[in-house]
Amino acid sequence: MSQTEFDAKDFRRALSQFPTGVTVITTLDAEGNPVGVTASSFNSVSMDPTLVLWSIDKGAHSLSAFENAEHFAVNVLGRDQVSTSNNFASRGEDKFANANYSAGIGGAPVLDDYAAQFECKTWAVYEGGDHLILVGEVLDYRYNDGVEPLVFARGSYAVSAQHPEMVKSAPCDNAATEGDFVGDYLLYLLRETYQRFSADLYPKLKNECGVTPEEWRVLARMINCPSYKISDLTGMVMQPEVALRETADWMVEKGFVEYKDKDTLAITAQGSEVAAKMQKLALAEEAALLNQLTSEQSAQLKDNLKSLIEKLG
Ligand SMILES: Cc1cc2nc3c(=O)[nH]c(=O)nc-3n(C[C@H](O)[C@H](O)[C@H](O)COP(=O)(O)O)c2cc1C
Repeated sequence: MSQTEFDAKDFRRALSQFPTGVTVITTLDAEGNPVGVTASSFNSVSMDPTLVLWSIDKGAHSLSAFENAEHFAVNVLGRDQVSTSNNFASRGEDKFANANYSAGIGGAPVLDDYAAQFECKTWAVYEGGDHLILVGEVLDYRYNDGVEPLVFARGSYAVSAQHPEMVKSAPCDNAATEGDFVGDYLLYLLRETYQRFSADLYPKLKNECGVTPEEWRVLARMINCPSYKISDLTGMVMQPEVALRETADWMVEKGFVEYKDKDTLAITAQGSEVAAKMQKLALAEEAALLNQLTSEQSAQLKDNLKSLIEKLG
């Protein structure tokens, strides 16, 4: 028992302000069956010897497999592997049915797709309260530096992006005369627009409507559809089910939503009121920006962006 009685949900929320990557850690159980869990607790430890660690919940089905394993593999996921993360975060019987993989060192499964991979020999297992801390010595590793890593922050999947302050133009004495390559590039323009607009909007949503970005994503979906199955909502708001249920618990506490049954969330009258206020604020922010263009230009801008999104698939 800890001496300080924290509220567990609030403590987890504080911890979730520290972004991590997402890994799937694999091994073989005593019968030689592949097992794997999604884990964000992975971290580097030592360069000499080369050590890494992660921690496993003592309630996990695969606890004894990892506790007794001689080897395990850490598959660091790329940005396109959200479904792999969700699959290995489930308590499904056969998580490997939909996975493409081969046997690595000691038989621990290595996934075909990855941002990085570390094949480890178990070096130490430590007690860590309700978790076990597993330290592995890295025997082999590889990485795809063309694959952007998947990020997990505040309970949501995300991608890493350069910080806008890192990409400000500096004066250049011998600049080419043909114009500014970076400043005219589509990705730069889209990202700058997104960063500046969201940096403006999210604090206002919090201050004026009392909603976090995670709650805003859920409420915004419910403006047109007042109830959702958690399993359908999870992909739309980019939260794994366990984290979405936590967001939902906060929203229930605030009176924004209620459970119709254990798998279905519905917006309440109070939630609808907040959603309407939020929508009004968001549209006013959008209008303040777009009104600096003509109405034809802003309609054209949205049409063009929609058709680019469609073409990109
Ligand atoms: C993004 C994310 C990170 C997670 N990180 C961990 C972790 O570090 N350790 C852990 O034990 N469980 C973690 N989990 C939860 C496990 O993946 C989940 O409990 C899984 O069902 C365990 O599988 P098992 O019960 O079949 O062993 C995480 C889940 C998600 C979605």
